[in-house]
Amino acid sequence: MSDSPFGLTPDEVLYSQTPIDLSKPYDESTVKGSTIVITGGARGIGEGMLRRFAPLGATVVIGDVNTARGEALIKELRESTGNENLHFLHVDVVSYPSQCAFFRSALALSPSGHLNTIIANAGVGEVGHFESPTGAPDTDPPEPPMTTIDVNVKGAIFTARLALHHLKSTPPGQDRHLLFLGSLASFAAGPAMAVYSASKHAVLGFFRSLRLYPSARDGVRMNIVCPYFVDTPILPLGGRTILAGLERALVEDVVEAAARFVCERGVMGRSLCVAPRGSGGVMEMGVGEMEEVEVFSRRIVRALNREAAVRAWVHMWWDLWVLFVVGPIVGLFRKY
Ligand SMILES: NC(=O)c1ccc[n+]([C@@H]2O[C@H](COP(=O)([O-])OP(=O)(O)OC[C@H]3O[C@@H](n4cnc5c(N)ncnc54)[C@H](O)[C@@H]3O)[C@@H](O)[C@H]2O)c1
Repeated sequence: MSDSPFGLTPDEVLYSQTPIDLSKPYDESTVKGSTIVITGGARGIGEGMLRRFAPLGATVVIGDVNTARGEALIKELRESTGNENLHFLHVDVVSYPSQCAFFRSALALSPSGHLNTIIANAGVGEVGHFESPTGAPDTDPPEPPMTTIDVNVKGAIFTARLALHHLKSTPPGQDRHLLFLGSLASFAAGPAMAVYSASKHAVLGFFRSLRLYPSARDGVRMNIVCPYFVDTPILPLGGRTILAGLERALVEDVVEAAARFVCERGVMGRSLCVAPRGSGGVMEMGVGEMEEVEVFSRRIVRALNREAAVRAWVHMWWDLWVLFVVGPIVGLFRKY
């Protein structure tokens, strides 16, 4: 056993991957009193998550570039739910200093002084027409806009970095959770949105590579929700036209998948895909994939297991030292 707050060794994290029972109701009361941070929470899926957690007695801090909408939303929800622990903060996830300030302010607003769930949700769709470079044949085409990569990949990586840093200070026994927003475009091809698809493949790859070590060492569990097309403002007119008449996934199903991850505190390292209900709705992807590790990962896991064992030994000897040596000496001094 390691001394991580979950009391898990990397092996135990790897091999505890039974499928999530999606038919089972989850206990939503677990979020009461916890502090949830959502990037990109001013509209769409992030707004849906705020609306879900606000009446449950959680402190929810949303960050977004859309200040007007974020502030109006918080005002509305404070009035309708009576929960005063709902806050909007301006953040541009592309800027590391902006995210640092955002996290510091969120900590200051948290009644417990700690954070429990961080949701890296902010995102943009395909920006620019990558497949159609403009310019005459004898000129270089203009550099493609990199906004999609900046917001979806760099922004999520910055959020994860700060989440790992701050969640380490959350007391053992309290939840430490980092939730990513991938997409079905994390697994599947996204024609006419190649850069967006690359960004969401990146988020999934980042999550899959990151999820083991912080879970085993620091008890930070990580999960990802991957929705199919959902009707939110991120969908451009062209996309809506192509999808006309076709069933989409529902914001409420995406929010429920996220809420299950937030509320079920034993769940770590898992992916829930959210398809249209007619195609199965919420389903788990990659069950057991953490067990299928190749030699490099196996060696890392072995090294981490050894580190966990050494830490357990050091703690045990330290406890014995305090119990049988330091304690009696202090007792002697007190006596005289
Ligand atoms: N809607 C879909 O079809 C769909 C499908 C799969 C995945 N997703 C993912 O879900 C997440 C939420 O998307 P949504 O559908 O709610 O879109 P949305 O456009 O409705 O909401 C995205 C939010 O992110 C904010 N944002 C954008 N750039 C930002 C920045 N630099 N800093 C801070 N905030 C920023 C926006 O202002 C907005 O409030 C995204 O990561 C998206 O890629 C959406």
